[in-house]
Amino acid sequence: MDLSRFSTEARLQSHFKDDYDFGDDKLQTLYAQAKRHQWDADLDVDWGKFEPGVDVIDRRSDFMSRLACVQELPSEQQTQLFRVLHLFMVSQVLHGEQAAMMTCGQLVNVVPDVNAKLAASVQVVDEARHVEVFARYLECQGGRFPIDPDLKIILEELLAERDWEAKCVGMQVIIESVALSFFRLGSELGVEPVFKSFIGNVRDDESRHVAYGVITLQDRIPALAPGVRERLEDWAYDAIVRIGGRAGKPGFTSMLGALATTDVDFASFMPKFLDEISDQQHLDLDGLADPISDTVLPNLLRVGLVPERHVDGYLAQGWRVDRAAKTVENLHTRHSSAQEKRAEFQERGLTFADPREATLA
Ligand SMILES: [Fe+2]
Ligand SMILES: [Fe+2]
Repeated sequence: MDLSRFSTEARLQSHFKDDYDFGDDKLQTLYAQAKRHQWDADLDVDWGKFEPGVDVIDRRSDFMSRLACVQELPSEQQTQLFRVLHLFMVSQVLHGEQAAMMTCGQLVNVVPDVNAKLAASVQVVDEARHVEVFARYLECQGGRFPIDPDLKIILEELLAERDWEAKCVGMQVIIESVALSFFRLGSELGVEPVFKSFIGNVRDDESRHVAYGVITLQDRIPALAPGVRERLEDWAYDAIVRIGGRAGKPGFTSMLGALATTDVDFASFMPKFLDEISDQQHLDLDGLADPISDTVLPNLLRVGLVPERHVDGYLAQGWRVDRAAKTVENLHTRHSSAQEKRAEFQERGLTFADPREATLA
């Protein structure tokens, strides 16, 4: 598969309206904030402070650091391993930023409301800046990894989507919520000085983008026909299965290929690694950031895209959703409630990786 380029056909409807009543709208406020908080990757980042030898983010934030097979590696190999892991993640962020810039450019055309067009326009500029800052950062680090095939599938689908609501769910609510979670982690636990100096600004931009998705969809979703809404609910479920990697379809498998570029002896490392990560009872994941329960599912609950029929499927993946309280608890797949749900799906011959089969009711 050629991961260096892809093209999608998208038939979009562009809406023009002779309506310039900006009013006192939440999106107008967001647009005003965005204009005030512009920054510049040339002027506001001190690229001279780059330190090549240090971790990008404190490695203790990564579950890999808790694995015995990693801890027993010589210290230079551990350093290499975390460097590659972080550069892999930053590379996926960079590719996601390019797609965010493109999707948001489409949104300027397809959203009907003038305030939604203005807020999307300034977001295009934000995303251009993110593309610039991450590409330059990876250049300092000496290179980047190609786009992960699962991420590519999600982005291709998003770009080809005709409806602005689906673009908003996929990009503004799901992809950008995952990115926001990573940027929050980076701003709290970033180590490398240049990364640390710009990641807080990216986080602030990104939280406006997620707010854009939530504000526009909160009004829109209740007005959609049931069939259209169900399609969006399924779209969201499927994207979480791909990103979360908890439904038998491992997320971002190309990360293992990236790790193979280190000096670690993979023939002896991989069996131990696979053993440890499949031993769910002893895997220590407590306290680690989980973008799906931290940001993605709470935002989907806010806009009304977690239906009752998906609650069992999310629980089988280790996320307990309370629709009434609008809360999400990350139990992990090893939890007895998740294990019981998995067994129930299996007994009935249903696969909870498929949004249409994710219910036991
Ligand atoms: Fe961005
Ligand atoms: Fe964004």
